[in-house]
Amino acid sequence: MNHHIWDAYSKSYLNIQKNPASFQLSLMNMLRFNEAEEILDAGCAGGQLHQYILQQRKNTCKLTACDFSLQMVKVAATRMLKFLNNPLSGEIMEISPLEIENVDLNCPLLEQNNYKIFQGDVQSLTQLNNNQFDIYISNMVIHLVENKNQAIQEAFRVLKPGGKIGIVIPVASGNLLMATMTKCFMQCGLIQNMPFKPTDIETREEMISFIKKYGFTDILCWNQTIPFDLYDIDNNYIFPQFKEILEKAPQEQVDQFYAFFKEEVQNRLNQNLPFTVEGLCLIAKKPL
Ligand SMILES: C[S@@+](CC[C@H](N)C(=O)[O-])C[C@H]1O[C@@H](n2cnc3c(N)ncnc32)[C@H](O)[C@@H]1O
Repeated sequence: MNHHIWDAYSKSYLNIQKNPASFQLSLMNMLRFNEAEEILDAGCAGGQLHQYILQQRKNTCKLTACDFSLQMVKVAATRMLKFLNNPLSGEIMEISPLEIENVDLNCPLLEQNNYKIFQGDVQSLTQLNNNQFDIYISNMVIHLVENKNQAIQEAFRVLKPGGKIGIVIPVASGNLLMATMTKCFMQCGLIQNMPFKPTDIETREEMISFIKKYGFTDILCWNQTIPFDLYDIDNNYIFPQFKEILEKAPQEQVDQFYAFFKEEVQNRLNQNLPFTVEGLCLIAKKPL
């Protein structure tokens, strides 16, 4: 998947990102981020938790974030500036397209608050030094990356000895929302197969042996399921891979998809169940 899909998706991320952010909260807790001096959020998208991190971190702690989608980076920076200019305002999501377009990623206010954000690919973080970070977090990103080996090698390189990595990837079989959307797409003939390759890591054992290869120790790995607050079929909840297909499809098929999907959502709600996504979460240490 290239960054253009995520650029186009960045507006939706103002709303949707609060769901997978629950995984990130668990990671932060398990990694004890409040003890860190430098944190990297790799593949940060709209930076949903950045304000929270700023409020909870040690005063001296620096937060660096990157994403390969420039639009995502701009959303995160705009959101952060909005927050820094008015930390007491409860609602910081209402930002206009113009504010996002004109945001200055090098604005001094960001630096004064020990916050740095840039457009960067997690497979090659040339902007970052060796042994720089106490914590490397990457929530729901590594499964999307072309060369996972390179991404984890980069994580290892930028972490200090004793530094910790925290990653989450979705479990394909436990991603109910994705599975339901796929089913509806197939029902109305929009696709014959999954529009993308699911990751080859599905179990704790696979995840642990994947990360062990790079020299990480003190590994903890667990499955975690989170609910999606999906109560209607707002466009915001269409995954980017599917959005692209819908945009090119005849209106009749699009309407059919929405009708099928609406029914699936209603069936789920009738059982008093939310849609859920299951993640494989892992934390580990770079040896001293
Ligand atoms: C599912 S979102 C997860 C974002 C965020 N970490 C969260 O917790 O919500 C995936 C993000 O990864 C970014 N991404 C995908 N591949 C990347 C890569 N190779 N380098 C940097 N960012 C990447 C996308 O642009 C998108 O913003």
